This record gives sequence, C-alpha cells and structure tokens, in this order.
Amino acid sequence: MKTLILFSGKYGITAAYAREMAALLGDEAELVDLTVCKPRTVSIKDVERLIIGSAVYAGQARSPFKKFIETYSRDLMQKKVMFFLCGLTSTEVDQQQAIQNIIPEDLRNHAQKTGFLPGKMQVEKMNFFERMILKMVEKAQEKDGVPPMPEPDIKAEASAFLKDTVLR
Ligand SMILES: Cc1cc2nc3c(=O)[nH]c(=O)nc-3n(C[C@H](O)[C@H](O)[C@H](O)COP(=O)(O)O)c2cc1C
Repeated sequence: MKTLILFSGKYGITAAYAREMAALLGDEAELVDLTVCKPRTVSIKDVERLIIGSAVYAGQARSPFKKFIETYSRDLMQKKVMFFLCGLTSTEVDQQQAIQNIIPEDLRNHAQKTGFLPGKMQVEKMNFFERMILKMVEKAQEKDGVPPMPEPDIKAEASAFLKDTVLR
C-alpha cells in the first residue's frame, strides 16, 4: 500500500520518528518534510495511506502541519490516515487533550490511529527564549509532582505506533 509519511518538527525528533516509520515500512513508504514543502506541491492522489506528524510547541502543532491538514482536509477524509504528535507532555490525560486540541474532530474520528510519541529536549539547539520557557515548564512540573519524561526509544515507539494498523 502506497504510504506517505509527512512530518513537521523543529529539532529533529519528529523527523527521527518519521524516518523510523519509513524504515519499518520499506519500499511502500515515502517521506515528506512539510517544513520544506508547500502543501500544494505534495500530491496525494495515488496515495492510499498518510501518516502525518507534528512536534508540539506551546500546545500547538507546527504551522506546516496545520496548513497541510487545512489544505487537504476533504481529501484526507477519503484516505486511510494516522496522526502522531511528538512532545513532552507526560500524562495520558494531557496527551489526549493535546490530540483533541490539535487534530480537527472529523479527522480525529476518521483516523485509523492517533498517537502522542515522547519527545526530547535538546537544550544545546534551543534559543534563549526557548531555554527560558523550558525552565518555567520544568519548575511547574516539579511543583505538580509530574515526573520528567524518560529518553525516548524512537524505534520501539515508532513500531508500537504502527503495530496493529500498518504492521501486524
Ligand atoms: C519552547 C518549547 C515549547 C514546548 N511546548 C510543548 C508543549 O506545549 N507540549 C509538549 O508536549 N511539548 C512541548 N515542547 C517539547 C517539544 O515538543 C519536544 O522537545 C519535541 O521533541 C520537539 O520535537 P522536534 O525535535 O521534532 O522539534 C516544547 C519545547 C520547547 C522548546
């Protein structure tokens, strides 16, 4: 089945998940980095399944992800689709809330699967502003007793996400 894996991240973890999924699917999958491709330049006509992912920043998906699903919302309702978000929200309730806030209801209900995959902070790549936000988030989480997210196992998470829908 021809599958497009489309993703938008900033510092490489969402891309790493997308690449891992493509490797697991082999020849049937093609990767598209939405951050560098305009939505209209992506042809989904002959594609049977789309796996669409975004990193989460300040509770939002990246704008190339938003633009893509806005542009193709009708077409996506005719295809097999799966969505994944990548972020550091660690509780199941908050992850489901993020999925609900970010993925429009009709697409969410239509999707074969929606998932929240664990992200990673790469402090060395962040700008000053992002480091400040990180410190604030860490303090708030510590205060609320939220445990920090462990280092993600990209391969294991990607294959668990594909299991039972794409991989048997
Ligand atoms: C400024 C900033 C804001 C963030 N906001 C959120 C957030 O609202 N929710 C979340 O789950 N993760 C948040 N994160 C964590 C990122 O989603 C995480 O680092 C992810 O791995 C980034 O993916 P990328 O490497 O593909 O860009 C934030 C990170 C930064 C630096």
